[in-house]
Amino acid sequence: MADGRVVVITGASAGIGEALAREYSARGARTVLVARRVERIAALAESLGAREGRSLAMAGDVTVDGDMEAVFERSRAHFGAVDTVFANAGFGVDGFVETLSLDDYRRQFETNVFGVIRTAQAALPALRASRGRLAVVGSVSGYLVQPGGTAYSMSKFAVRAFCDGLRAEMGPAGVSVTHIAPGFVTSDIRRTDRRGALHDDAKDPVPTWLQMPAEEAARRMADATDRRRPELVLTGHGHVGVWVARHAPALLRGVMGVVARRGMPVRKPRPE
Ligand SMILES: NC(=O)c1ccc[n+]([C@@H]2O[C@H](COP(=O)([O-])OP(=O)(O)OC[C@H]3O[C@@H](n4cnc5c(N)ncnc54)[C@H](OP(=O)(O)O)[C@@H]3O)[C@@H](O)[C@H]2O)c1
Repeated sequence: MADGRVVVITGASAGIGEALAREYSARGARTVLVARRVERIAALAESLGAREGRSLAMAGDVTVDGDMEAVFERSRAHFGAVDTVFANAGFGVDGFVETLSLDDYRRQFETNVFGVIRTAQAALPALRASRGRLAVVGSVSGYLVQPGGTAYSMSKFAVRAFCDGLRAEMGPAGVSVTHIAPGFVTSDIRRTDRRGALHDDAKDPVPTWLQMPAEEAARRMADATDRRRPELVLTGHGHVGVWVARHAPALLRGVMGVVARRGMPVRKPRPE
């Protein structure tokens, strides 16, 4: 289905973004891989056919003004068009409100919210031209807030609102907007601290049986985006969480009260 199409993915150096790049490449798409760790995306692009002109690695930081414009300018110059864009780059700031600084919240928003806006705004001229697809990776945390999760959830609630508004705005232009809300997916996110530093030696606090493999998540994300679905919730526990948040908010408050008394549900590495 994606034969020859050009797919740009931010946060392609690890986890979900890397899996998306492999998935689209297997579907016959040409891929543009964006992240800060350029050696990782360069190696991935090489394995996805950089030499045959099927993949392009581009250093880009979604928190830097101008980086995403450069990505789309070069993508169009290299491949002629851009058909699908995944605003996927993100990380999680965790911690109780009383322990977090304003800078912690700002850092979270700079990547997860303003990074998505930068990506979308830079992508829209190309997507208008191709009547393309924009997918934004939010989270189940964009529907519910765990104790210790205000910064991350606020950022993901914000991108869900962004998607709802942008979807309506871009409808007449034929550009679809898919909001993706995963539950736990296998990646580096829970081994990355609130400053964005990866702790290679840290153990993922979420048991493996509760995690959806990144490859499966990527396949479902690609299917939903290719079909221009407005929304995709991933994982069984994710569906339960979103349903309870929508239909039984009092129950959710009760559960979160119990969780709060036990401490933070998912403990990430502490910054050094
Ligand atoms: N895994 C889950 O359980 C889960 C659940 C719900 C939602 N999500 C969302 O899924 C998305 C992908 O996360 P993941 O789980 O795959 O985590 P991950 O394995 O830690 O990967 C995060 C990716 O984002 C990139 N990134 C971070 N900050 C960036 C910046 N300023 N500029 C450009 N790229 C940046 C990283 O690349 P560099 O460090 O090389 O720049 C990396 O490629 C995030 O939006 C996350 O919130 C994940």
